Amino acid sequence: MYNEKVLDHFNNPRNVGELENPDGVGEVGNPVCGDIMRMEIAVEDGRIKDIRFRTFGCGAAIATSSMVTELVKGKTLEEALAVTNRMVAEALGGLPPVKMHCSNLAADALHKAIDDYLSRAGAAAADLGAGERAPAAAAAGCPDPSADPCPGCCGKIGRERGDGPPPGGETPPAG
Ligand code: FES
Repeated sequence: MYNEKVLDHFNNPRNVGELENPDGVGEVGNPVCGDIMRMEIAVEDGRIKDIRFRTFGCGAAIATSSMVTELVKGKTLEEALAVTNRMVAEALGGLPPVKMHCSNLAADALHKAIDDYLSRAGAAAADLGAGERAPAAAAAGCPDPSADPCPGCCGKIGRERGDGPPPGGETPPAG
């Protein structure tokens, strides 16, 4: 039923497990069968430095999980976002038609992990104007990210990115 490549990734899955402090986590469930896949990424300089997965599913789901981690390790986030479920299935040399739905988890979980990273990084985002700082402040958990500087971070998000002191020269709260 499965080709040799699929069987290899099923029997010897790559990058199984969890990261100690993942920068992004994506979890998806397959509505067809209820199986679940969790993907964790570590990001450095805009690239996927490391990636791990846990999949509670069939052989095809495990093989596609394993393959997607190999496809995107070391790639930029943009390149990783361009990986589709079909590309993963093709990289495995194809899946039996009845198992194609199993390939839907892999790229979806990866994209969710990247989305999670981007939102945590606060739109690692915004290139720093007062208005643009709000998404980053919100992602950092500031109580009023629309204020400038917001009361939670006193503009430290901007400072961490080399913007200098916040307007008014306030001292950031301890801790
Ligand atoms: S049967 Fe559920 S992912 Fe394959």
